[in-house]
Amino acid sequence: MTTTPEQIVAWDRSEGAARATAAFERAFGTAPDGVWSAPGRVNVIGEHTDYNGGTCLPMALPHRTYVAFRRRADDEVRLVSAQEGAPVTVSLGEVAPGTVEGWAAYVAGVAWALRESGRTVSGFDAAVDSCVPYGAGLSSSAALECAVAVALDETHGLALGSSDEGRAVLARACIRAENEIAGAPTGGMDQSASLRCQEGHALLLDTRDGSTHHIPLDLGSHGLALLVMDTRAEHQLVDGQYAARRTMCEAAAHELGVTTLREVTDLDDALARLAAMPDADVVTRRVRHVVTEIARVQEIADLLARDAVEEMGPVLSAAHASLRDDYEVSCPELDVAVDTAAAHGALGGRMVGGGFGGSAIALVRVDDVDRVAAAVDEAFASRGWHAPAFLVAQAAAPAGRD
Ligand code: GLA
Repeated sequence: MTTTPEQIVAWDRSEGAARATAAFERAFGTAPDGVWSAPGRVNVIGEHTDYNGGTCLPMALPHRTYVAFRRRADDEVRLVSAQEGAPVTVSLGEVAPGTVEGWAAYVAGVAWALRESGRTVSGFDAAVDSCVPYGAGLSSSAALECAVAVALDETHGLALGSSDEGRAVLARACIRAENEIAGAPTGGMDQSASLRCQEGHALLLDTRDGSTHHIPLDLGSHGLALLVMDTRAEHQLVDGQYAARRTMCEAAAHELGVTTLREVTDLDDALARLAAMPDADVVTRRVRHVVTEIARVQEIADLLARDAVEEMGPVLSAAHASLRDDYEVSCPELDVAVDTAAAHGALGGRMVGGGFGGSAIALVRVDDVDRVAAAVDEAFASRGWHAPAFLVAQAAAPAGRD
């Protein structure tokens, strides 16, 4: 039996806003001050580079998290979410590392971080609804943080959301929320993408200095599409694997006498110098991934500048091999998605995000999208795996008011 592969549908912004508003009115019995939303992202290239001072090239998706929000006069934060169970109440003054559990940490953490940076922020009521798939490696947590950040910004007159410099400040607050309150040691690509991307563009982000460059991305005019394949395999960044990669990279940089692996200019020389470290085989493979991945970001940026988008395929596939073999963050579902897409005409593809599950991307001809999705769906069904879900990525707008 053949089935139609499942699509991950993005709501219209008016639908998202209406849903969040209705949830707010149900929960709190009054109208919100407004609705703010922020996108999930997919990264074209540059994986596990952001915490190494490297570059990456994410784009915002049309899939967004919507937050209907009302500022309060006191310190209370009351939260409801269509995706989560019971309502949560947190007192802002009591937020500190280790004090808030679960999804509320991503919300209360942003207010906490803005306070830590010297801004005056009060409590609030918020109702959340989202069409960013959870656990798909498409940054549902960053979308939540960033929607809250722009809501806090506007309702408290912080005036950060109106400029890119201000948005970089909001992104830093979201990163602190995730690192220190939610306890996930992620690198910052996701929050920067959600707040600083532009519609129709990928964001070339240099995490060494926070600088950005907006690269027009119009695959459709070349008859191409970026197919996102959510494997539905579980991934969990809060577990030890991501942190272990990050710690090892930092140890390697320390051994090499550089601040981050971004500063490695001679890979062979660096690998030779790491040979004496404990676990040298693993360390050298991790470092090789990071250094070659940063070079691949530049390669893709150059190809896009030349409008040579078809040539991106092999670079994406090289990234997948490096993530699978050197960085060891892939999993059978991701490998099957990438390999099946390639066997059915994709020009290239790779896993995206932190890994161990979540999504992969494939660069495919527009005419092949349905065929490739059907083949991947079939490959999963024949292995008895959970059915994957698909979307065609369009570079969408950053966080803002609805
Ligand atoms: C996750 C993290 C990001 C980044 C990617 C890997 O998405 O949140 O900071 O490190 O993994 O590139």
